[in-house]
Order: sequence, then structure tokens, then C-alpha cells
Amino acid sequence: MLKMAQTFDITKCRDDFPALREKMNSKPLVFLDSAASAQKPACVIDAVRAAYESGYANIHRGLYRYSQDLTEKFENVRVRVAKFIGAVSGKEIIFTRNATEGINLVAQSWGRSFLKAGDEVVLSVMEHHANIVPWQILKDQIGIEIRVIPIDAHGVLDMDAYRAALNEKTRLVAITHVSNVLGTINPVKEMTALAKAHNSDIKVLVDGAQGIVHGPVDVQGLGCDFYVFTGHKLYGPTGVGVLYGRYDVLESMPPYQGGGDMIETVSFSGTKYREAPYKFEAGTPAIAEILGLGAAVDYMASLPVDKLMEHEQKLLSYAMERLGNIDGVTIYGTAPDKASVVSFSMDNIHSSDVAMVLDQMGIAVRTGHHCAMPLMEYLGIEGTVRASIALYSNESDIDRLIDGILKVKELF
Ligand code: ALA
Repeated sequence: MLKMAQTFDITKCRDDFPALREKMNSKPLVFLDSAASAQKPACVIDAVRAAYESGYANIHRGLYRYSQDLTEKFENVRVRVAKFIGAVSGKEIIFTRNATEGINLVAQSWGRSFLKAGDEVVLSVMEHHANIVPWQILKDQIGIEIRVIPIDAHGVLDMDAYRAALNEKTRLVAITHVSNVLGTINPVKEMTALAKAHNSDIKVLVDGAQGIVHGPVDVQGLGCDFYVFTGHKLYGPTGVGVLYGRYDVLESMPPYQGGGDMIETVSFSGTKYREAPYKFEAGTPAIAEILGLGAAVDYMASLPVDKLMEHEQKLLSYAMERLGNIDGVTIYGTAPDKASVVSFSMDNIHSSDVAMVLDQMGIAVRTGHHCAMPLMEYLGIEGTVRASIALYSNESDIDRLIDGILKVKELF
């Protein structure tokens, strides 16, 4: 859970991010691709550098001071992450490489152990490939069935279809908190409650890769069994993600990968694993990056979350209004509960051409299918241009984007 501070000073906050002082193609950078990967505040960069500069060692292995101290700092990040998302304790926090690995871990460990042919996993049509392909792999391996919940014209999940999809074969609901394309904020708390009311054995996994960035997360409040996110979208380093799992569920699951650090004892006659979360963390982890994630979580926790959300929502409304007023621009995703992500297309102009012109103007956006090809198929389009607004975005970023779009219209 995020701590409340009194004010949110966007100017001061922008100063925390060295990359925002850069130029791209000789123009001051307008970075509107934070949903792909966010820029990092100096405190995160410093934390990663500090980990290597002084007192560096492997963790969980050495009896000497450096290793012991770094192990303590590393384990302290687990506790801070647990607090940040409202988990019961650090024992419910597994460090992974990213959100994708968290979902694969659940599919291969929990899924392969507890699902059988014919069991159903419920997904939505707006899922990222990371929350589709692991379940398709599991379908190929053991014959589970995948049910897909549709959306309406605004990009809102069809809750009647969701209720109807829950049946005696449902074993898991795996749903994105926030769509990386449409920005739709899904009612994950209500969906979890509905699933559990239908059958308390149904597990719920929330893909929080985008969700955790835009507002407070309380996993106990949501009632979900698993929540995954990645560090690099949360203003932290790449190479580190988090899988939250309810402790009793984690305890029931076998390891995902075998190797060092996840065992009590190893013998050719058999191996005894450590308890959760350690049994899921084979091999040396991304130590420095995990310390960087700790700094990112502290940074987020120091910001006034209500003001931050208000700031992003204001910019979102401004961007939607200005883009919506341009002839030939179609916006995808107009849900009433929407995070600060705007996807759009321009009549008769390919999204790559839009991106190329914007690039020359120093504006970074993402284009294409956004790792959500089934959603593109559903919408009947090849791709979109996506501008994603972060805590450090400002009105001038949106104005420059609009100037860029008007330039594109002039050129094509
Ligand atoms: N999942 C990331 C995005 O939406 C990479 O751009």
C-alpha cells in the first residue's frame, strides 16, 4: 500500500528522472512509452550502482560480512514489497525475472500439479500475450480449456459473459488488472469475489504489470491468490519482477525450476526443498536489480498516491479530448474506469508511419499490436499508436504529441 504524502510536485518529480533531460533526434525528449518500460528516478539508478560499487557479494551463501549484509538488504526488499502491495508478509513475495515469468511459474507449477484435461481457465480478450501463451502451453501439455471473456465497444469487460463463464469446470481466472492497450481498469476485486462465491476453490491470478503503476494495490483487499508485476514498468530496473502468492497456495505448489539456493539438502537419493518463497528462487537472483526495485517501491511509497492518480487522470482526459478533436483519429478504449494509456489510429496512415514522424520530433510512442494480437483481431485492426502517460508526464508532452499528429496529417 502506498503511503500518503501531502503534495505532488510534478516539476520536482520530473527532476528525479535524469533521462527526461535528454534529447532524442536533437529535440527535447517527450517520453510517452512508459507502459512499455518506464524511465528511472536517480534513486533507483543509484541503488543499482551502489550495490556493485561497495559491499557486493553473492547472497544467502557467504559467512563473511559483505554477503551477510547484502543478504539482509535483499531480504528487506521482500518485506518492503510485501507492505507495498498489502501482502501478509515477505514470505508471499517471490522474485522473478518479470511478470511473464511469474505467470509461467504459476502455469507450470500450480497448473501442472492441480489441473487436468477439461478443466477451464478463464481469460479476457484484452490479455497480453504473457497471460495467454503460458495457458496455451499448458493446454498443449495437459488438455485444459481456455474460455475468453469479450468486451464491449468501449473496451469494458462483459461481466454477464464472465458470470456465465464460471461453471463447475472453472479452476482459474487469470485477468489483467489494466489493459496495456485500452487502459481499461478491470473490476478485479468484484471478479475475484464472484469466482470465489461460485466455488471457493477457484484460484484468481491478476496480471498487475500495468495496474500496479497507476494506483495502490492491496492484494488482501482484492482477495486474489496470485498477483504478478514487473520492476521496469514501476520505475525500477529490468530483469526483476514479483509474483505474490497466498502463502498456503504457494506452500502447496512444487518448485518451478531446480538449482542452487532453493534446496535444504540434495542427494542422488532425493532432494529436500526449502519452504516458499525460496523454493521458487533457483540460482543467483538479480541482486542489484532487486535492490533497485526496493528503491523504486520506496520512491512510489513516498509519493501522494491520490495526487498522482489525479495528475495522470487529468492528463489522460486532456490527451483524449485533444486527440478526439482531430479528424481521422480513432481512439480505442473509452472505458469509464481507465488508466492513462491512449491507443489510437489515423485514417489511411499506417501506425509505423505515425511513429516515424513522431520519432523525428523527439516523441517516443509505441506502435503495433502491443503483445495483444488477439485483441487486435477482435477489434479488426492490425495495430495502434499508443501514448502512455506516466507520473512524470506533463501537459507540454501532450501538446507536443498533438503537434506531431497534426504534422503527420500534413505529411500524409
Ligand atoms: N507489455 C509492454 C507494453 O505494453 C511491453 O508495451
